[in-house]
Amino acid sequence: MEPKIVTPPPGPRARHVLERDSRVVSQSMAREYPLVLERAKGMNLWDVDGNRYLDFSAGIAVMNMGWNHPDVVRAVQSQAESLSHGAFLDFCSEVPVTFAERLVRFMPSGIDRVYFSNSGAESVEAAIKLARRATKRKYFISFYGGFHGRTMGALSLTATKVIHRQYFGPFLPVIHVPYENPYRPLSASSPSCEIDVVNYINEEVFRTEVAPDEVAAIFVEPIQGEGGYVVPPVDFLRQLRETCDMHDILLVCDEVQAGCFRTGPFLACEHSRVVPDIVCMAKAIGGGLPLGVTLASDELMRWPPGSHASTFGGNNLSCIAGLTVLDLMEREHAGKNAELRGRHLMKGLKELYAQYELIGDVRGVGLMAAIELVEDRTTKIPAKAKRNAILKSAFEKGVCLLPAGQSVIRFSPPLIISDEEIDVGLSVLDRCFAEATGS
Ligand SMILES: Cc1ncc(COP(=O)(O)O)c(C=O)c1O
Repeated sequence: MEPKIVTPPPGPRARHVLERDSRVVSQSMAREYPLVLERAKGMNLWDVDGNRYLDFSAGIAVMNMGWNHPDVVRAVQSQAESLSHGAFLDFCSEVPVTFAERLVRFMPSGIDRVYFSNSGAESVEAAIKLARRATKRKYFISFYGGFHGRTMGALSLTATKVIHRQYFGPFLPVIHVPYENPYRPLSASSPSCEIDVVNYINEEVFRTEVAPDEVAAIFVEPIQGEGGYVVPPVDFLRQLRETCDMHDILLVCDEVQAGCFRTGPFLACEHSRVVPDIVCMAKAIGGGLPLGVTLASDELMRWPPGSHASTFGGNNLSCIAGLTVLDLMEREHAGKNAELRGRHLMKGLKELYAQYELIGDVRGVGLMAAIELVEDRTTKIPAKAKRNAILKSAFEKGVCLLPAGQSVIRFSPPLIISDEEIDVGLSVLDRCFAEATGS
């Protein structure tokens, strides 16, 4: 459906809510434009002033089967009448167990145990603790540009923007290394010159900074999300796997954003045929309700009763929503649609690239796609202000997109998007670029 703007946003009701929000709610979130939602369905969002938007965000890669899918709504309503908070920490109930049984069937063989939490950050915290407990080692390695959440452990791994970390340290002992970024390869100005990242870990980090037998785990996003939808070469994960195997280091794949069929297969690491030791998931796995899961093998996830838990972990409402959306994604071939629609989106983005010098790079896998805006294609200086202006302009025309990295626009729509809806979004974006560049 075409977007429909009846009152230029923010309209009067939106302004009123935003004004109240500014007085009472913590303003630590970074919102890109003043959207005040009233309801949502499928691919569409409505604001409190009656404007209808076409959504390319899925609420940061959450609403994979579209907003407020009727099956999920029905399942949650019915579950709420029988049991919502099941106190899974103290009492058992069937829904979380069924969900865990179902979920492990989507995992690479050998990953067959699930720890329940409520968010991506918590799924990462659980992985940190599990890795330390299992290896009795203290250090971690993660990547510049990586985002793993904002609780203290997850934040220690995160290195996307300094504002996330400023004044919050000291952190866990984490060594950050560059991520393999084909658009911005390690240059002569980087400490490792032309050395590739996995060599850098082996030759530099393990020689100068930490002995490998003190490293519990390497945390990696198979495709960087918040860092700018950076797609590494397919060998990158394989080489990391080899390094981990060589030193008995655990490989943790953070699939919070890239997982759940967004790139085609259930897990993005499947593109490299790499089997991680621990998988972190959240966002889309809960079908719109708060749910985090940390998965590992039965052998690895042997921590004794009392060693880790959370009051709401295994919540019946979240788990029934997760179970329903998992069934939907499988039944409606969400992964296949992500692949096919992703190809259509990529073709449209490449056409925009051919038209506008402002776009320095087009990249992505499935429906995890992005364009990076640069001041010019030679210097590749990030065009952050121009990116922000384009996001705002798209919003004012009824298309919701989100930023990532320094100057990236990300496309992470619900996986149910059609080619026609992609074309509507792209034509609005074309108008935004034409206006911004005066062409
Ligand atoms: C890859 C990744 N890991 C972890 C997180 C943290 O998730 P949450 O915001 O649910 O804590 C995010 C959030 O964007 C993410 O993209």
